[in-house]
Amino acid sequence: MKKALVVYSGGLDTTVIIPVLKAEGYDEVHTVTVDVGQPASDIAQAAERAAILGAVHTTIDAKKEFAEDYCTVAMAMNADYFGYPLSTSIARPLIAKKAAEVALEKGPFDAVVHGCTGKGNDQFRLEFGLRLHVPHIPIKAPVRERNWTRSEEIEYAEKVGAPIGQSKDKIWSIDENLWGRSIEGGRLEEPNFAPPEEIFQWTASPLHAPDEPQTVIVDFQHGKPVALNGQELDSLSLITLANQLAGHNGIGRIDMMEDRMIGMKVRENYECPGATLLIRAHKELEGYVVTGAERKFKALVDQQWAELAYCGLWGDPLFDDLVAFSNQIQKRVTGKVWLQLYKGSLTVTGRESPYGLYSEAIASFDDSTTFSQSAMEGMVKAHGLSSLIYARLKE
Ligand code: ARG
Repeated sequence: MKKALVVYSGGLDTTVIIPVLKAEGYDEVHTVTVDVGQPASDIAQAAERAAILGAVHTTIDAKKEFAEDYCTVAMAMNADYFGYPLSTSIARPLIAKKAAEVALEKGPFDAVVHGCTGKGNDQFRLEFGLRLHVPHIPIKAPVRERNWTRSEEIEYAEKVGAPIGQSKDKIWSIDENLWGRSIEGGRLEEPNFAPPEEIFQWTASPLHAPDEPQTVIVDFQHGKPVALNGQELDSLSLITLANQLAGHNGIGRIDMMEDRMIGMKVRENYECPGATLLIRAHKELEGYVVTGAERKFKALVDQQWAELAYCGLWGDPLFDDLVAFSNQIQKRVTGKVWLQLYKGSLTVTGRESPYGLYSEAIASFDDSTTFSQSAMEGMVKAHGLSSLIYARLKE
């Protein structure tokens, strides 16, 4: 008896896999859907389709863990890959980890199977995660093996009667979790095609967002947001509310050219309202409590982290080292940030922290007692000495 476990979203790619596996002689097919904040209808649809195809289905609610252990880290690292807050990227390692847990619990399995194509980043992220947690189970990727196009998948699904329903007329390929939505495919593959309003679900068009600006106050404790507008919330509820507040004001739409791991440039659209708001607030507070030198170095650390997070390498030694450095910094990232949300724009209007390194007396134009300007003369004279010598030489 041969058994396979499919990492299942309920979408087209992962649905066609089930009849493929049956045809390949797998007697028992299991499916696992990991809920990291997809729409409830997607989660339900996955269970229905699995049942229709005779698979043994498991749904795992990983929303809390995703919020606490993944989104919170992404925020501390000011997650940014060329303007993308890494929403899809950071969910894959957790999906792999949870799928691996099911593999161990319901196994033994002869294969763990995913629906990634050979063009994207997810094949790297998921397979790394699976090899990390269940190295003894062979991995299969039927869509990639067959080099299938979308229309070939649809054709096959129709032939074998697999329930792909509206996937047929759905032009957009969408990936969604608590940290953001990603929309690809269809005419969006033309870099000069303006994103149509219909692709957006979480954000109001800035044109139709409220005419009154809205103030949001984010409270941080050691780098982690703990309250919005004075209301204390756990990470999951806080990120959900941040998505609503920012989305309502048209914040978090991203249209960009992205460089994939395999060196391919692609056009991507995202809506990440909550991530945009929270990262902006976090970065502001961090800048207030750390020295200039730390701030510049943290920007390098963040960039290196983003690179590894994009590749799905959670657990990589450098990844852990970078997070450890950040954790040292986050000890002081406590305080409040005020932001104004208005028709797609996000403006910081205030910050406050017991660890702020700012001294009004020292910086003020109106104070001459705390810092004596005349003490500067010699230091200023020495500024740019070698540049001056070089300029003379050029003459
Ligand atoms: N390009 C993004 C990434 O690799 C998102 C991919 C999401 N997939 C989708 N079908 N929209 O992180």
